[in-house]
Amino acid sequence: MTKPAISSDQSVTSAALRGAMGQYLTGVTIVTVTGPDNVPYGLTVNSFNSVSLTPPLILWSLDNRNDNLALFKGARGFAVNILSADQLDLCKVFSGAENNRFANCDWHFGSYGQPLLAESLVSLECRPWAKYDGGDHTIFVGEVMSIKQCDGKPAAFYNGKLGQYDGG
Ligand SMILES: Cc1cc2nc3c(=O)[nH]c(=O)nc-3n(C[C@H](O)[C@H](O)[C@H](O)COP(=O)(O)O)c2cc1C
Repeated sequence: MTKPAISSDQSVTSAALRGAMGQYLTGVTIVTVTGPDNVPYGLTVNSFNSVSLTPPLILWSLDNRNDNLALFKGARGFAVNILSADQLDLCKVFSGAENNRFANCDWHFGSYGQPLLAESLVSLECRPWAKYDGGDHTIFVGEVMSIKQCDGKPAAFYNGKLGQYDGG
């Protein structure tokens, strides 16, 4: 059924855009970074996407209100961990009020010094390529330096709900 159009002569509210973008099914990632004294930080992110194959570039965006914006802006790199359906609990931990998000998960530093979450479908270690102003977010483009992969079904996010992609 066709829904009423929302056009720019009306105001495109945050709620309208959020609702519309909720119809775009994505995977789920946890983007991690190594802070001062080697303390890891990470958050759940679904704004991740590929950009370029040559050079190998990816992007994601971070809310400018995030307390760790400066950490990402100054970091030597970051990692994108693409979650499997078996890691849906991590998605909640890394987007919630839990103080020590890394306490109950298996992780290690990768070859480029970034925190990699064990059993992720894919972990990409990236070095900074570019940062862009993206309205109330900052867009980070990273050059992929290493790729680590595991078998499994992907986590999925659609219409505000977490689930899994079964294929077919
Ligand atoms: C499925 C999902 C996707 C998210 N994607 C993003 C994103 O792309 N960028 C972002 O800044 N926050 C995103 N968030 C919200 C952050 O995970 C959340 O605000 C963050 O963990 C807060 O971290 P803090 O408590 O350290 O400030 C997402 C949350 C969920 C549940």
